[in-house]
Amino acid sequence: MGTSMKALYSDIGLCIKSFKLFLECSTEHQCMKKFIDENLPDIVSSIGKNGVPCLNVLGVGSGSGEIDFEILGRIQSKHPGVSIHNEVVEPNLHQISKYKGLVKEKGEDLNISFTWNQMSSEEFKKQNKERKESKKFDFIHMIQMLYFVDSIHDTIKYFHSLLETNGKLLIIHTSDDSGFHPLWKNVISRFSNDHLLPDVRMVLDEMKMKYRIYKLASDLNVTECFTEGNENGERMLDFITQVAHFRKTAPADLTAELLRYIRQPQCSREENGRIIFINNLHAIVIEY
Ligand SMILES: C[S@@+](CC[C@H](N)C(=O)[O-])C[C@H]1O[C@@H](n2cnc3c(N)ncnc32)[C@H](O)[C@@H]1O
Repeated sequence: MGTSMKALYSDIGLCIKSFKLFLECSTEHQCMKKFIDENLPDIVSSIGKNGVPCLNVLGVGSGSGEIDFEILGRIQSKHPGVSIHNEVVEPNLHQISKYKGLVKEKGEDLNISFTWNQMSSEEFKKQNKERKESKKFDFIHMIQMLYFVDSIHDTIKYFHSLLETNGKLLIIHTSDDSGFHPLWKNVISRFSNDHLLPDVRMVLDEMKMKYRIYKLASDLNVTECFTEGNENGERMLDFITQVAHFRKTAPADLTAELLRYIRQPQCSREENGRIIFINNLHAIVIEY
């Protein structure tokens, strides 16, 4: 990365702000909720050993928990009368606090207990190894978080090893037909070594894991990125490049190239005067 350019995650406040904006401008959570409504009930119907009174669920990189909460609701309605214990692994304290607020607001009537691990997935693994503990889970999910781990391979391998008999591991990740892949490969990778978009399917194939893929179509409105000085546009460029204050710190020709590339058909389309970036996702379900 250029000397004056700093990774977005070095400024947690800005990082959270730009992710929030990304959620507001995209159909990211809507398409996940559609998948949770339409596909998840079937996926979770077979988890758990026959007659168990409690299902153990683990969310890794849960953020503020909106999607986790939807997942828990579907698991509960598919397994009525069974209690759920949900563990959360999330390093960011602010996100955990928001998640706890959500539980307080909506979770009182639900038969769900929580354990909060304010730590990264790497720290969780280390802690379990030190305690010689490897509690098993009936359902584990890693949603939009594998970009941030030290090793995708080791992370998937470790969490897969924590699956209970009949358990399932769900990964939701940017798909290879989203605009992010060509943009990172052709422009962003030239100035950033961080968060290169990994090909999760390739990793799973190398590991000879069996999985099923669901395609989730999603859009991201990036129109404001094209108005210099527009605050939302600047935050969105920070999110897309994962660089803090990208437009202020990147050389002008790089910004121009990035904006030109975003307009390419492999990244976006124009619709009613708006620039709509392709934000498609894959939901990948891996069996025990
Ligand atoms: C893009 S957000 C996704 C949040 C949530 N899953 C969603 O889809 O709305 C990524 C989350 O992963 C967390 N995270 C970053 N590095 C992590 C790591 N090494 N282990 C676990 N979580 C991590 C961040 O704090 C953040 O909350």
